Amino acid sequence: MGRAWGYRDFGAADVQEFFERPNPAPGPDEVLIRVAAAGVNPLDHHLRSGHVRELNGHVPFPHVLGMEAAGTVLAVGSDVTGLSVGDRVTGFALTGAGTYADTTLLLGASTARVPDALSDAWAATIPVAGTTALDVLDQLALPTGASLLINGIGGGVGIAVAQLARDHGLRVVGTGSTAKRALATATGAEFVDYTTGSVAERLRGHVPDGVDAVVDTVGGQSLRDVTPLAKQPSAVVSVGDASVTELGGTQVHRRLDRAGLERVADLMVQGQLDPHISATYPLTRAPEALALVEGRHAPGKLVIDLRR
Ligand SMILES: NC(=O)c1ccc[n+]([C@@H]2O[C@H](COP(=O)([O-])OP(=O)(O)OC[C@H]3O[C@@H](n4cnc5c(N)ncnc54)[C@H](OP(=O)(O)O)[C@@H]3O)[C@@H](O)[C@H]2O)c1
Repeated sequence: MGRAWGYRDFGAADVQEFFERPNPAPGPDEVLIRVAAAGVNPLDHHLRSGHVRELNGHVPFPHVLGMEAAGTVLAVGSDVTGLSVGDRVTGFALTGAGTYADTTLLLGASTARVPDALSDAWAATIPVAGTTALDVLDQLALPTGASLLINGIGGGVGIAVAQLARDHGLRVVGTGSTAKRALATATGAEFVDYTTGSVAERLRGHVPDGVDAVVDTVGGQSLRDVTPLAKQPSAVVSVGDASVTELGGTQVHRRLDRAGLERVADLMVQGQLDPHISATYPLTRAPEALALVEGRHAPGKLVIDLRR
């Protein structure tokens, strides 16, 4: 048996609870890991709320929260290749097993070994924010010197996109609240504070001719406000709002593969990508961490440390 934190039904934060569960048994394409660290993401509360039930799978309640984790392999399914018991890994719990737990199942094809130089906390942030940043920039395939607007530069995905875009030689302009200015400008990006007046007007001051592409991490009205800045609507990619297609843009295409995880790990080791973890929490304080992310203005990435 191990500790787990999740929800007994779909709903708001009051359905969350701690419980014990036995180690899940890996299916042929899964690996069982002892979790060292788990990333906290907006998708966690979206799943709990029941708004994206097609992603919850068909596992019985209580559901364990969390989509990504780093840890050590305890058992390997018969069809999984390239991973062995004892490996340090990071990956996606697309199995529905959750990651805010002492043990969990990761999908073998969406799990990669972690270089020794990477901490568990950093490794735990690779699957969601790290590979989303990689996927969205690969999708846009912008040439060096192109201009990119990151709507929501201060979040886990936004700050990762900013660093990869900088190293690709892009001119980056990002939006965020006042508290995110230092974080954003440290990546070399130009910063527009969306809390002080019309964001579209102030962006026009930076890029009067518009931008070659937009990566949106905010969605809703904010996405609608910044879309006209793109020279072509088709160059607007949202990572979180499917209605971007109504504006002529596209959603990010997620690959969720081992190669992407390995590329992001490599970028971290080479010093090109810092996930900007602002705090790690023991499992007992996971509700506090998820509440911060649910509040939509979390300070950088938050990670649950299962070893504490
Ligand atoms: N498709 C996928 O596979 C995938 C993967 C990862 C994430 N996502 C989605 O992408 C979105 C962002 O994820 P994340 O992990 O980056 O979340 P996050 O770390 O919680 O960051 C969200 C950021 O949005 C900023 N923000 C809120 N309102 C804003 C506004 N009006 N203008 C500009 N910035 C604003 C917040 O910072 P301020 O303090 O600056 O407001 C916050 O830093 C979520 O909807 C998530 O579900 C999708």
